[in-house]
Amino acid sequence: MTPPDERIPWFRPQVGAAEERRLAEVLKSGYINAGEVTREFEERVAETIGAGHCVAVTSGTAAIALALMGKGIGPGDEVIVPDLTFIATANAVRLTGAEVKLVDVETGRFTLDVDRTRAAIGPRTRAVVPVDVNGRGADYTVLEPMCRDEGLALICDSAEALGSKYAGRFLGTFGDAGIFSFSAPKTISSGQGGMIATDDEDLAYRLRELRDQGRRSQGTGGNDLHPVVGFNFKYTNLQAAVALCQMDRLADRLDHFRRRDRWYRDLLADCPGVTLPPLDDGEEIRQWTDILVDRRDDVVAALADRGIGCRPFWYPLHTQAPDKAPDDGFPGAMAVSYRGLWLPSSFELTREQAELTAGIIRQTLSG
Ligand SMILES: Cc1ncc(COP(=O)(O)O)c(C=O)c1O
Repeated sequence: MTPPDERIPWFRPQVGAAEERRLAEVLKSGYINAGEVTREFEERVAETIGAGHCVAVTSGTAAIALALMGKGIGPGDEVIVPDLTFIATANAVRLTGAEVKLVDVETGRFTLDVDRTRAAIGPRTRAVVPVDVNGRGADYTVLEPMCRDEGLALICDSAEALGSKYAGRFLGTFGDAGIFSFSAPKTISSGQGGMIATDDEDLAYRLRELRDQGRRSQGTGGNDLHPVVGFNFKYTNLQAAVALCQMDRLADRLDHFRRRDRWYRDLLADCPGVTLPPLDDGEEIRQWTDILVDRRDDVVAALADRGIGCRPFWYPLHTQAPDKAPDDGFPGAMAVSYRGLWLPSSFELTREQAELTAGIIRQTLSG
């Protein structure tokens, strides 16, 4: 049995006294639905990343779906999605009624292969949803002009990239819109939640209608006007209270992520069987530390034996039932998925814990 004090989590949200105080204020106010605190959180994220508008919704999945719907995408349309991502990216496309077209990823950055994306554009393609996997920006220097020239919407899945930059710009600010997730293993978490960032005022207006039953102003639930169709994807004051407190700690969290990546980089440099993905030490921030590793199952088991958590990468989407397709169309995702591992990466991780983790990985691979 592992003593409880040796337990090193893969990741866990960090909430405390500040969140309790802010939540208590919201509870005392009696207004626990989407309201002023939600708006404050939207403004805070917009200001942080330099986006014109932010619209908070129930999840990152809903954020992608609404952004696509806001661009008029639906049944009969096809949307390009990378083969290596959390399945939410593809399911969000399905929620709109559109079809998913999977495209392979690069093996260096794990993001959408832009040449294969260009080749995959067909007569029904209406949008591309690149994923900024673990804070690594997709190749927007190519994707932005490509989508503009081809007349495609570009909705960026930056669910894992709050605070990270690509080519000097915050992720979430590329394309027509970018989205974030506030689920439990994210840099900022309110349990669940999502956000759409956009500079397009008309799109932001449409997103607010889509989020709230087509209403154009805050409703009463009674004799409101609903000039267009919308749904209920609102993000409440309660959730915003929890997320806002964490925004105060965002810079510290990002600094810790940078430090953590450097620890692992030093500790695992030249370790046989481990490939360290190139680290852009500038403004790119990884939510979790990731490595590619041989004998991954043995490594996961050895870490688990010592009470250390980690997460193997997602299976390629083309191997899952909804999008089943032959492997040979996806050599990049196949090369990365089965070796990829996210190491313990929580806000509280110490250098000693990283040393212990790296030591077990080395020992396992040398055995
Ligand atoms: C890459 C990616 N896309 C989309 C999502 C969906 O976000 P959510 O879980 O908030 O719906 C997540 C996170 O869970 C994610 O990691």
